[in-house]
Amino acid sequence: MIAVIIWYHFLDVCCYFNLVFLLCRVKMEPAHAACALLSLAPLLVLGVPPIWTQPEQVHLSYPGVPGSMVVTWTTFNKTESKVEYSLLGGRLFDMTAKGDATLFVDSGEEKRKMYIHRVKLTGLKPATAYVYHCGSDEGWSDVFFFTALNDSTSFSPRFALYGDLGNENPQSLARLQKETQLGMYDVVLHIGTTDHDIYHSNIDNARIGDEFMRQIQSIAAYLPYMTCPGNHEATYNFSNYRNRFSMPGQTESLWYSWNLGSAHIISFSTEVYFYLEYGLELLFKQYEWLKKDLEEANKPENRAVRPWIITMGHRPMYCSDDDQDDCTKFDSYVRLGRKDTKPLAPGLEDLFYRYGVDLELWAHEHTYERLWPVYGDKVYNGSKEQPYVNPKAPVHIVTGSAGCREKTDRFNPNPKEWSAFRSTDYGYTRMQVVNTTHVYLEQVSDDQYGKVIDSIWVVKEKHGFSAWF
Ligand SMILES: *[C@@H]1O[C@H](CO)[C@@H](O)[C@H](O)[C@H]1NC(C)=O
Ligand SMILES: *[C@@H]1O[C@H](CO)[C@@H](O)[C@H](O)[C@H]1NC(C)=O
Ligand SMILES: *[C@@H]1O[C@H](CO)[C@@H](O)[C@H](O)[C@H]1NC(C)=O
Ligand SMILES: *[C@@H]1O[C@H](CO)[C@@H](O)[C@H](O)[C@H]1NC(C)=O
Ligand SMILES: *[C@@H]1O[C@H](CO)[C@@H](O)[C@H](O)[C@H]1NC(C)=O
Repeated sequence: MIAVIIWYHFLDVCCYFNLVFLLCRVKMEPAHAACALLSLAPLLVLGVPPIWTQPEQVHLSYPGVPGSMVVTWTTFNKTESKVEYSLLGGRLFDMTAKGDATLFVDSGEEKRKMYIHRVKLTGLKPATAYVYHCGSDEGWSDVFFFTALNDSTSFSPRFALYGDLGNENPQSLARLQKETQLGMYDVVLHIGTTDHDIYHSNIDNARIGDEFMRQIQSIAAYLPYMTCPGNHEATYNFSNYRNRFSMPGQTESLWYSWNLGSAHIISFSTEVYFYLEYGLELLFKQYEWLKKDLEEANKPENRAVRPWIITMGHRPMYCSDDDQDDCTKFDSYVRLGRKDTKPLAPGLEDLFYRYGVDLELWAHEHTYERLWPVYGDKVYNGSKEQPYVNPKAPVHIVTGSAGCREKTDRFNPNPKEWSAFRSTDYGYTRMQVVNTTHVYLEQVSDDQYGKVIDSIWVVKEKHGFSAWF
């Protein structure tokens, strides 16, 4: 008996040193090799049963409060929800945070069950790196690291932006994994249709959703992965999306806003304009919320420190793809609202214009398109020579070409005058909110091995409605 206990204790210690070895790169090769062999021993003896308590699909999100981060993951049996973490380079796992798990039952035939665990870390030191793992004494994840967001309004956050990254044909995934792990980004904004194939969950009983969440772990476990809903998540009233993500606010991740550096970032659902069967009242609720949020962000004391208002929503108001999507028609629902509902559903272009939204990020079209400043289907350049210096209308970027099963779309050969640059290459966008006057955006092509194929500086000395005149 004692021998057995000592044996297991020895393995624990071994595993601990394995970890230390990996993290700190301490030179102890022979001991390490011996530990690796020894730690296999119990498996050989006892066999490998399926581990339903093993954490998977680990991802991070920022709850909007400085010094905090939410860790979300999945297990298939109920377990405790714990995150053990520490400063990078400090004594491993010297802090523990607890949270809870909610049961999510997929609506597919099998009624598959899973537990979605959420743990909020608080009191993190800004701009400081942490290591963590999550799970419980019945199973721990791999070890990951992240940097707590810098809460200074003069911080210049770097974002990766994209939409329509699929479980199948995820062209940009490898480059994004590497760049994230290299620390090139502070945040990812995933602009909807987080998984092309959650759509098919009625066939696959959310297994494809699981696959997708596993696939993005190599990005999303290392930095806040901020999302908005897209059309492919619509099955069963967006229940996979609402259950799997943990965005700020009390709307099951459907719409919310948060601040970083000199930006106020608003995420919303364009899908409320299309899936009326899930409730027209959602469209009005969101509209009222958007109005209130924009009003608050425009209070002089708020706009002075966070002058950039950036929105992200899945289906664009404008695009020039040659499919039959909403944005190719003059009367885009998202832009102009719906005339076939009672009461009439208000569109968002006027609302965003009135409150001086600076930059509108979209996806859905499987292409990249940059627009000249546009409002009411007309171009409002800052000046002919410098269209993005003090633009007289919001700037729109459509970035939905990260790669999915539907491949890329084709363009209409005769775009309208607001179309400034278009590419059908697979790729994604980088954005840096540099300071109160400067935002930089560039487009990366995967087809061209990471080449930057487009870039702009948006420069604004003034923000808000009055900046348009
Ligand atoms: C654990 O999960 C598996 C797979 O969902 C299920 O078959 C099993 O009944 C669960 N066990 C417990 C104790 O909940
Ligand atoms: C946060 O960013 C600001 C602006 O770049 C910088 O001055 C500050 O040192 C950063 N904070 C930390 C803790 O690194
Ligand atoms: C769909 O989900 C939303 C958000 O939870 C909820 O408010 C709405 O009532 C649901 N619609 C239906 C038809 O169940
Ligand atoms: C906006 O600026 C671009 C770049 O200079 C120019 O090509 C385009 O014609 C301008 N559009 C209008 C309507 O002035
Ligand atoms: C903002 O950043 C730009 C680009 O780096 C720089 O030219 C400009 O002087 C900065 N403005 C302020 C107010 O710091």
